[in-house]
Amino acid sequence: MFSGLGFNSGEFHLQTSIFDSYLSHQSLFKRNRDVLRPAYIPSSLPHRDEQIDQLASILATALKGERPSNILIFGKTGTGKTAVVKFLGKEVERLQKQVLEKKNAGQLDDNAVSLLNDDMEVGIPVGMLTDNEVHYVYINCEIVDTQYGVLQNIGNRFIDKWKEQIPFTGWPLERVHNALRDQIDSKKQVIVVILDEIDKLVYKSGDDVLYHLSTINDSLKQAKLSVIGISNDLKFTEFLDPRVKSRLGEEKMVFPPYIAEQLKDIMSQRADLAFEVGILEESVIPQCAALAAQEHGDARRALDLLRVAAELAERQKDKRVLPHHVDLAKNKLELDCVTEVIRTLPTQSKLLLFGIILNEEVGRTRLTTGDVYDSYKIVCQRSGISSLTQRRITDLVSEFDMLGLINARIISKGRYGRTREIILSVPKTETRNVLEEDEVFANMQSYRLKLQSTLM
Ligand SMILES: Nc1ncnc2c1ncn2[C@@H]1O[C@H](COP(=O)(O)OP(=O)(O)OP(=O)(O)O)[C@@H](O)[C@H]1O
Ligand SMILES: [Mg+2]
Repeated sequence: MFSGLGFNSGEFHLQTSIFDSYLSHQSLFKRNRDVLRPAYIPSSLPHRDEQIDQLASILATALKGERPSNILIFGKTGTGKTAVVKFLGKEVERLQKQVLEKKNAGQLDDNAVSLLNDDMEVGIPVGMLTDNEVHYVYINCEIVDTQYGVLQNIGNRFIDKWKEQIPFTGWPLERVHNALRDQIDSKKQVIVVILDEIDKLVYKSGDDVLYHLSTINDSLKQAKLSVIGISNDLKFTEFLDPRVKSRLGEEKMVFPPYIAEQLKDIMSQRADLAFEVGILEESVIPQCAALAAQEHGDARRALDLLRVAAELAERQKDKRVLPHHVDLAKNKLELDCVTEVIRTLPTQSKLLLFGIILNEEVGRTRLTTGDVYDSYKIVCQRSGISSLTQRRITDLVSEFDMLGLINARIISKGRYGRTREIILSVPKTETRNVLEEDEVFANMQSYRLKLQSTLM
């Protein structure tokens, strides 16, 4: 019998809910599981002292009213770039509040306040700080990826009145430039603009906005502006005009990948906040650390493994998180990752992948480029889309190989020469399900390849 929200002769009443068994089960997490999510910024960042100190000393220049150098920060994904930069943003804010309080209390002495918690290394005398306002403007260029968007975002931070703000769209760029310049130059202040994922901005919109921001100081009388660019892609600088490149990279920092021992510390810090003592079996954190370190020392991946392992344990109503939950979490994350890659493939690539799966479904697993091309053409025909040449398809096959969707290797056929053997390396049923979400496959639901319809 269905047990849930029940309607009974006009009367509405709540029966036992289908969620009850889950709700009554004790959660493995303390109140807040968000501490394991990427958006959470912990109060300290283990194994990033050097990078924090280096950035703090650069930002201290801003707090003293000078323009800090522009900085480019590089490092692979999950190495703490965003976390460190946001952490310092909070510190700058905390320090400015502290200075304001001292100023209001008339305590303008030479006692140093510290930019970092309990750490006097970057101490600055209060007297030096009072007249300087520092604004820390963080922009994620994955979201704001146009010249207009970046300038509008910075400008509007300095315009309180909603009616006077720069609109989302519609003004000529020059007007946006002028509005931004006038707004920031209305008083003495230092503005530090953080462009996180700056590569996305450059690939989408070129380097005009970076040229503008890196030369804006020439036309400012009171204010000063500097840029911190963050990227996990070293190649994007090749797309910059040499002048922009040298201006932006006045200082460069590299965040190295974490080793397993460091990942353990990072996870332990978060686990203490997320779980009661004893919930994690002892080997769970070392196991997550080892898995994440095997790739390239990605703290995001390590924390994701831990969170998903605990969620799976919770779903299975287990009382502790055990090593086999981490194995399950690893598989789930890998599948989620592949799913995303497949979902965002261009249409022609989806058609090709569908063709490969059709072969797999009828037990043909080691395919030649010719087999793949034949089934691809059948899929195109049924979907009403014109097919590409075999040469283009060969290129797409190589792309699939790089994405890890297939495994293509050259094998020797003795005196018949060499040929490429293509093997699907993602699960066929799940992949087909994801592909079928695309309406281009509306006519392919439950379609199977007839062996006689392909060339053998
Ligand atoms: N040293 C650290 N201490 C505590 N948590 C950390 C540390 N480094 C990274 N993290 C955590 O790991 C996750 C990923 O870090 P972050 O977002 O800073 O990576 P990133 O270098 O910006 O990666 P990407 O290039 O993909 O943007 C976040 O949850 C962050 O809080
Ligand atoms: Mg980041």
